Amino acid sequence: MLREPARQVTPTELASAEMQAFIEDLVETMHAANGAGLAAPQVGRSVAIAAVHVQANPRYPYKPDFPLTVFVNPTLTVVGDETASLYEGCLSVPDLRGRVLRSMHVRVDALDRHGAQLTVETRGLTAGTFQHEFDHLEGKLFLDRVTDPATLTTWSNFARFHEADFLREVEVINRRHGGVQGVRLVPAT
Ligand code: NI
Repeated sequence: MLREPARQVTPTELASAEMQAFIEDLVETMHAANGAGLAAPQVGRSVAIAAVHVQANPRYPYKPDFPLTVFVNPTLTVVGDETASLYEGCLSVPDLRGRVLRSMHVRVDALDRHGAQLTVETRGLTAGTFQHEFDHLEGKLFLDRVTDPATLTTWSNFARFHEADFLREVEVINRRHGGVQGVRLVPAT
């Protein structure tokens, strides 16, 4: 299922008690696993829903906070051409990290969990997190984006050999792009 594109969710389906309960589960599972985000196909359901929440995350302590947000049927648009090479990890790819090139400024148009139109524009590491999560909805894993397999490393070897350098890079990115980005809610018409 991780390798299949997820299907879109209809407004009626989204409003159902069953789908709302599923979204609760998705968020709980993300929190329990210390994920920065989690996509529905990662918990066995091939629907275009992903959650993102970063708040002093122990798994990714360098990521800026981002409020809990559920994205339904998201469309991601890259803004500008700035990219950065980031180490990523994934709850669906145990004990492996690697470098991936991500856009540093993106816009997302989606529905929120209650079916209202949601547009979020974000930069820096949060933009990277969005790209990672929405890739899941297209059947893509960060592994598919690793251009240099020599960067693949276990989490313990990352801490031992790469973390210090990467944190210095991240500091530059965070300084450049700031922390929490504004969430713009567009009322449904
Ligand atoms: Ni992932």
